[in-house]
Amino acid sequence: MIFRENVPLSGLNTFKTGGSAKFFCIVGTVDELKNAVCFVTENKLPFFVLGGGSNALFSDRVFEGLVIKMEMMGRGAVEKENGTIHLSAAAGESWDKLVSLAVGNNFYGIENLSGIPGTVGGAAVQNIGAYGAEAGDSIIEVEILDVSDMKVKTLNVKERLFSYRDSIFKKLEGKNYIVTRVLFRLKKEGELNMKYKDIREYFENKNFGEITLKDLRSAVLEIRSKKFPNLNKFGTAGSFFKNPTVNKNFYESLREKYPQIPTYPVGGENFRISLAWILDNICGLKGFKKGAVGLYENQPLVLTNFGGASANDIKNLADEIARTVKEKIGIEIDPEVVCV
Ligand code: EPU
Repeated sequence: MIFRENVPLSGLNTFKTGGSAKFFCIVGTVDELKNAVCFVTENKLPFFVLGGGSNALFSDRVFEGLVIKMEMMGRGAVEKENGTIHLSAAAGESWDKLVSLAVGNNFYGIENLSGIPGTVGGAAVQNIGAYGAEAGDSIIEVEILDVSDMKVKTLNVKERLFSYRDSIFKKLEGKNYIVTRVLFRLKKEGELNMKYKDIREYFENKNFGEITLKDLRSAVLEIRSKKFPNLNKFGTAGSFFKNPTVNKNFYESLREKYPQIPTYPVGGENFRISLAWILDNICGLKGFKKGAVGLYENQPLVLTNFGGASANDIKNLADEIARTVKEKIGIEIDPEVVCV
């Protein structure tokens, strides 16, 4: 296994920014991953596990540690009783190839997550979500390497691994875990998840007979292509911020002032509010550009590198957006993107 030095990171993430990694390696097996971990332990270095680089903003400086590019591959499906399918995929597999495979085999469960860039491991770490579904809804087990004792372990979803755009793997308690494989529970005879407004509207405007799993995947891909910048042309990591969660009192005062604001109850008398709407209708920032970075004109939550922006430019605009939201409505917003 080769440890390379001073490897530029801009070609390895979808924001297309960043400095270099002091050390860099690619791992294709658990043994290689263990070697990589030994390397950082021996040299007392920090490490960062990189999947598809579709949700990370790398600083323009040198990352003074080891970037481990996860390329563990392998997939397999097993049919269980009652039309349940257990689909297992290694962390380095492409997320969207997995969704395409599931849809091609008529396995229900992850089709609403079509078209999301990145890897299977990244999907679990981020608990990716879109159009009324989250990866964590379909995951039943996550296999990890625990770097504290170098053992491969299986975490069951009952251990409450996931929450909105978050997982144990992003928190202190999961800091020693590197995801190596994910097990999904899918269904052979499922129901289409048509809860999300954009999806319902898509089919309302078209003359469809019976909607199939493949139709739903095509719909999601088409909706996404209109909302997100083309990754071949521009740099982006999707939504830069999470939608904020607020308590009932705050929700009611906001609703009174802005009756149109989209909100969703999330239990425990808390509400999630649409930051895209706030940026567009309260802050007037939709389409705003500063140099080569801006809020995408079709989706203001999506910070976009229109060409040549540095990580610093993106971070500065993100900070400015957070300050503006705080000034206008008094809430703190959290990035969804991981800043490295
Ligand atoms: N809106 C505006 N102006 C706009 C765009 C949207 O006011 O220009 C309002 C609309 O009222 C719309 C609402 O914002 O109904 C919500 O917009 P959208 O449906 O695009 O969803 P979102 O909450 O902004 C979330 C996810 C996206 C995911 C979409 C679709 C987060 C942080 N983002 O965005 O996920 O694709 O829902 O389900 O939860 C990502 O995580 O990187 C990501 C792209």
